[in-house]
Amino acid sequence: MTKAEGVPYLDLSKEFNALKDEWFAMIIEDGARGSWVLGPNVHAFEKEAAEFVGSRHAIGLANGTDALYLSLRALGIGPGDEVITTPYTFFSTSEVIDMVGARPVFVDIEADSFNINPVLVEQAVTENTRAIIPVHLFGNPADMTAINTIAEKYDLVVVEDAAQAFGAQHNGQRVGSMGNTGCFSFYPTKVLGCYGDGGLLTTDSDEIAEAVRKLRNHGAAAAFQHDEVGMNSRLDEVQAALLRLKLKSLDENIASRQRIAGVYDERLAKLGITCPARPQHGSHAFNLYTIRSTKIDAIRQALMDNAIGNSTCYPAPLALQEVYQHLQYSAADFPVSVALGNEVVSLPVFPDMTEEQLDRVCQVIEDAVN
Ligand SMILES: Cc1ncc(COP(=O)(O)O)c(C=O)c1O
Repeated sequence: MTKAEGVPYLDLSKEFNALKDEWFAMIIEDGARGSWVLGPNVHAFEKEAAEFVGSRHAIGLANGTDALYLSLRALGIGPGDEVITTPYTFFSTSEVIDMVGARPVFVDIEADSFNINPVLVEQAVTENTRAIIPVHLFGNPADMTAINTIAEKYDLVVVEDAAQAFGAQHNGQRVGSMGNTGCFSFYPTKVLGCYGDGGLLTTDSDEIAEAVRKLRNHGAAAAFQHDEVGMNSRLDEVQAALLRLKLKSLDENIASRQRIAGVYDERLAKLGITCPARPQHGSHAFNLYTIRSTKIDAIRQALMDNAIGNSTCYPAPLALQEVYQHLQYSAADFPVSVALGNEVVSLPVFPDMTEEQLDRVCQVIEDAVN
């Protein structure tokens, strides 16, 4: 790599080349069997993923948004109910609350973890509150001990948005195994990503699992027998085959992400940049490596000028966007989220990132800050 070469935000080409022969062979087997929908790879992946996460059930879905939506449906959340969540996340997290006719209630995040602040969650509980949706943001596990304690105290359900955090742990448990349901996205950029769309819902409850299996397949208990209005949200057999292959090396890939994060920490913290906090009782899966600095404009500009992939997650708290104008929040309600939007940038982090690429990103930031 010459100095002038850029660094992509994410590069899956090496991984694709390493996996393609085995993956294509699995697809050819599917073709020979003619099993394209809810076939053997989906069933096997559900079993393997449940085991990995540490949940009794895992249900393959079309995407992570559906995992959140079907969680709320299966848990009976609807009109008149309030659901507490974070404004500092991707839109799907709160979008699904409106999709079931409930009301999102946003509370600010912790400045160090970027995750929902449990103290504010408890303050926001009313007689209409039914659920909490914590997000394990950027791969960093939320404080599930505190959140589950609040849920128990007020008789609420917890839907973990683990879309960005497959494999992350809190107190020795994988995320997705601690709430009433866990929701994962397999969008290609995720820690466990497929080459298209995919999602997964995990749960220990037989009842919820049965409800979601039905809902993902048009509310059908059996062929042409519809008990309720559901949807088509099935994980594709072709993607399930790939996910089975990728799950085998997931812990190794997370270790690579953690190692890259360690190098960034070492090079960038001494520049006065705030590097991602590590969870007190767990492990970060580093879907994103997000730095905070008062010199962020100079850093972003330098990254751009040197063709280094980057992203600002997230520029504006969801609660302050047009779609939620009717909820009448103001910037003063979310001081941490608002401040972060003006001070963060996410850097390239992917398992096949080379030493040269990593060094180049650090160098460009060092030059921008000094
Ligand atoms: C925190 C979070 N929740 C939910 C989702 C939705 O997942 P999907 O894109 O698979 O629907 C995403 C995906 O970007 C996400 O980052």
